[in-house]
Amino acid sequence: MIRKILLVLLAALVVIQFIRPKKNKSDAPQTNYIGNYYAVPGDVQAILTKACNDCHSNNTRYPWYSNFQPVLWWLNKHIQDGKKELNFDEYKNKSLRYQYHKMEEVIDEVKEGKMPLNSYTWIHKDAKLTTEEKAAITSWAQSVMDKMKSQYPMDSLVRKK
Ligand code: HEC
Repeated sequence: MIRKILLVLLAALVVIQFIRPKKNKSDAPQTNYIGNYYAVPGDVQAILTKACNDCHSNNTRYPWYSNFQPVLWWLNKHIQDGKKELNFDEYKNKSLRYQYHKMEEVIDEVKEGKMPLNSYTWIHKDAKLTTEEKAAITSWAQSVMDKMKSQYPMDSLVRKK
């Protein structure tokens, strides 16, 4: 009996290797990328690349083990959910209020240590942000908000209470 169950499980494992979600990859120029509109200093870009963009951009660096299922499904779920909330490559595509609010969220999430996700820093040790890195990314997000405030009237950035 046990043998049969194991065989069925093994067969299922083989079959699911062929069911792969589309990877998050894009060769197209990312014209709505936040950095095309707001300056992203080198140190902040390095943080975004190593700690955020795998789930918040149109290009993920896939680890080798993502070639085994169900790993890719699991990663893909985070990527899809992350991109839905915030995609730095689609940033300029969104309303001003959205853009402004998402920078507030970046500050909150990083300060509270909620981003990057624990399951991510567990494997990507270098994505665990140091105090300096947290300061760099939050003050960058603040600078984007300040730039927006200087360009647009406040009621186009936040809904009136
Ligand atoms: C492993 C994938 C992953 C990584 C890496 C990651 N995020 Fe996220 N992020 C998510 C997911 C999934 C969500 C949506 C669900 C949630 O809030 O937990 C999210 C949500 C967010 C939100 C939206 C919160 C809101 O309510 O509007 C912000 C802002 C954010 N992440 C910023 C960042 C920043 C900044 C980094 C890098 C320092 C980062 N994330 C790294 C997966 C990730």
